[in-house]
Amino acid sequence: MCGIIAITTRRKTNVSKMITSGLKRLEYRGYDSVGIATISEGKIQTMKDAGTIDQVTSRLSFDTLEGSTGIGHTRWATHGPPTRINAHPHADCSDSLMVVHNGIIDNYLSLRNDLKKQGHKFKSETDTEVLAHLIEEEFKSEKGPNAVIQAFKKALDKIEGTYAITLIHTADPTKIFLARKDSPLVIGVQDDTKFAASDIPAFLEYTKNAIVLKNGEVATLTPEAVYIEKNGFRVQPKPFIVSWTAESAQKSGYPHFMLKEIHEQPIALQNTLNVNVKALEEATKRILEAEKIIILAAGTSYHAGLSGYYQFQRLLKQKPIYPIIASEYETYNHLVDENTCILAVSQSGETLDVMKGLTAARKAGAKIISIANVIDSSIPRLSQVALYTKAGPEIGVAATKTHTAQVALLARLSLQLEYSLNVWNQQEFSSIITDFTSEVPSITRTVINQNEFKAKQLASIISDQNHSYFLARGKNLPIAMEGALKLKEISYIHAEAFPAGESKHGPIAIVEPKFPVFIISPKDETRKKMFSNSEEMKARGGYIISITHKDQEIVKRSDQSFLIPESSSPLITPISYVIPLQMISYYAAVHRGFDPDKPKNLAKTVTVE
Ligand code: G6P
Repeated sequence: MCGIIAITTRRKTNVSKMITSGLKRLEYRGYDSVGIATISEGKIQTMKDAGTIDQVTSRLSFDTLEGSTGIGHTRWATHGPPTRINAHPHADCSDSLMVVHNGIIDNYLSLRNDLKKQGHKFKSETDTEVLAHLIEEEFKSEKGPNAVIQAFKKALDKIEGTYAITLIHTADPTKIFLARKDSPLVIGVQDDTKFAASDIPAFLEYTKNAIVLKNGEVATLTPEAVYIEKNGFRVQPKPFIVSWTAESAQKSGYPHFMLKEIHEQPIALQNTLNVNVKALEEATKRILEAEKIIILAAGTSYHAGLSGYYQFQRLLKQKPIYPIIASEYETYNHLVDENTCILAVSQSGETLDVMKGLTAARKAGAKIISIANVIDSSIPRLSQVALYTKAGPEIGVAATKTHTAQVALLARLSLQLEYSLNVWNQQEFSSIITDFTSEVPSITRTVINQNEFKAKQLASIISDQNHSYFLARGKNLPIAMEGALKLKEISYIHAEAFPAGESKHGPIAIVEPKFPVFIISPKDETRKKMFSNSEEMKARGGYIISITHKDQEIVKRSDQSFLIPESSSPLITPISYVIPLQMISYYAAVHRGFDPDKPKNLAKTVTVE
């Protein structure tokens, strides 16, 4: 939620252009308003407005902002509606400083009242603006070369909540000051230029050298140096080289990131299945040692976690496994102890609900395994074992390639569990892994090629509908849930997923002619019951769309069928079956005239509770 970028450079160039292009790469984090501030000749220059970056840049010329030090922000509103006044950056009373912020300041109301009493004049309704005035207030009693950082740290001591903040100040015009607590900030390093951003793609076209700012750290960036401190002590930065390419964060000829990312799935899966075997073995050991397992995730990652749940419970039989939506963690905290293993699944590695759950679970003594797509992000850092999907940067708000990569990694983990449980000998296991690793990307490629045209056609048929159902049974339920989430989040067609047997207990009441009903029916133990559930829907006029392994019994009961090649392992089904659903959702959004990359009211990385 909210994208931040800050740049300071020694080059004789205006950073506003670089900041704008960085903001474009962060737009998936929020896009209801945007703003930039720079310092030029000791004075702050700023522009901001409500709307997406394209909308705002068609009205304002960010490029005309001068200066080689600046900050930018793209917003997902929490406090105060998306208006020009509420857009970041926010200034103090005298326009001597500017801040941008991602997160929530919980005690902003009392701070605001105190500051008002001290004479500060507020312009916006945001929680962020208190920061600007707090720093201004603290700065009054500071002197000397470190006055700004001292005032900044004193202000930070007074705020409660979560934050990633960048600050510029006319008293120190070539520096950028940053701080983080529970919201991400990454520093980018070039010889004469330094960057700070919410995510790596923001500066990937300039540098691959990065440093993750950790919780509680405060940093000062000059064009030449990075200075990090924590609790008053200097911290030695740990730079790393980013493996993502700049092209991977660009559309490369596709009309939208989402379509590009759907097409990138074969390679994302191939890379992901090139696993770190040591980490996988360690995760397996922890799972087998634990008395109970909790799978913790949000949104699309929760659906991947749910697929993992069905795989693990088949193998671990008596061991209790609880798949939990991260925001509901507190309800289950009493189950967690030192014999619990938490498996956290998160694309961004920064989702606050997951982090809060993990922090509480650690306190209770639980061991943590995580699956994330962003190296060294907060969730892997809270874990004893970090497994990574290698899907590359995902920019489209609706997760696609990271989802199938998570499912594939969880499937690979369950194969490792099978081996540890002596289901296979060494030779059998090697051949299973070889087949699985090559089959997953190749089936994915075939499914995309064979179904895209049909998905586009179907999207135009269902686009005038307001509701839809996604039905499955047992281990196929996460596929239906993910299909429904994708359709509703980007096309805004209301979509509901439920176990097919539940139809008669309520949902079927609203089925009428042309009502789209998606039937997830692989050739497995659930298929026969799915026949009658499709018939029931069809009898009420439902428009039956099946996803099936060329099962003629299902095909003949359907108005449209998406045919998925059979594979050697049922573990591939939740990967191959979800792909037509992703494509249908994408084309439905496009057909209805919506931007699938930027669904309204949503953001990709949710760093608020
Ligand atoms: C948001 C995104 C979803 C994502 C969810 C969890 O809601 O829009 O696409 O699945 O957060 O995010 P995570 O980064 O933890 O996977």
